[in-house]
Amino acid sequence: MSSAEPSLATRGLVAGYGDIPVVRGVDIEVRAGELVAVVGPNGAGKSTLLKAILGLAKVIEGQVLADGADITRAPLQKLVRLGIGYVPQTDDVFDPLKVRENLLMGGYLLDKQTRAARMEEVLAIFPALRSRLNRYVGTMSGGERKMTAIGRALMLTPKVLVLDEPTAGLSVALTEMVLTEQVRALADHGHAVLLVEQKAQAALRLADRAYVLVQGSVAMAAPAAQVLASPEMAEVFLGGQLKQQQAADQ
Ligand SMILES: Nc1ncnc2c1ncn2[C@@H]1O[C@H](COP(=O)(O)OP(=O)(O)OP(=O)(O)O)[C@@H](O)[C@H]1O
Ligand SMILES: [Mg+2]
Repeated sequence: MSSAEPSLATRGLVAGYGDIPVVRGVDIEVRAGELVAVVGPNGAGKSTLLKAILGLAKVIEGQVLADGADITRAPLQKLVRLGIGYVPQTDDVFDPLKVRENLLMGGYLLDKQTRAARMEEVLAIFPALRSRLNRYVGTMSGGERKMTAIGRALMLTPKVLVLDEPTAGLSVALTEMVLTEQVRALADHGHAVLLVEQKAQAALRLADRAYVLVQGSVAMAAPAAQVLASPEMAEVFLGGQLKQQQAADQ
């Protein structure tokens, strides 16, 4: 199943919202079975990088590649068909709908029978959702909602999953649960996972590799453990965030 080409990559990507770039020449790649984290301070351009990959921010220069094929500026529909799933930081589920309806909507490209079968597979990945299928998403906890959002993205069996801060607004316990039981598990199931996280230490503990994004550029690209252990990253690029978390953990 492994291929020479990364499942998802950017080459010299320059992107933003107008003419002024927010993302300035970024090269990243994610392979099947890999969990790759992008960390960095607020406003570094992490979300913009993901949006540019998905064609939701303006690509000024450079390329986005899926399995080596150029998908720069491709419409979202095409990316979905190519097997790229995206879970944005907010607005990732439909509150007035039930869990079952959210999941089925995620499989909108499938015929009815395949859709039902795929929902069973997603429920096998997130068994906790089974007893909540008839709950309205708006009445559920943050962790359950996130599970629904990721489950919805999984309905089309994406090869690549792009996740923007899946633990935003969650407690420490739920953060651990989402990252270890959901996000890591996706990579272990063979998906290529690109994860943007504010909670840098938690993400780096689980990721295979990481990119530190600072002011729109990659300041460090290394195995996650190496980034985690790097004192200058904690001090200079994460504004002491790691140190604070380490102190809080002790
Ligand atoms: N829709 C937009 N229009 C114009 N500028 C934007 C827009 N969204 C973000 N920006 C600007 O782009 C820069 C990078 O923002 P971005 O959201 O990518 O950062 P981030 O690394 O995801 O930050 P955070 O960790 O706070 O989520 C910021 O200066 C921000 O003000
Ligand atoms: Mg962001």
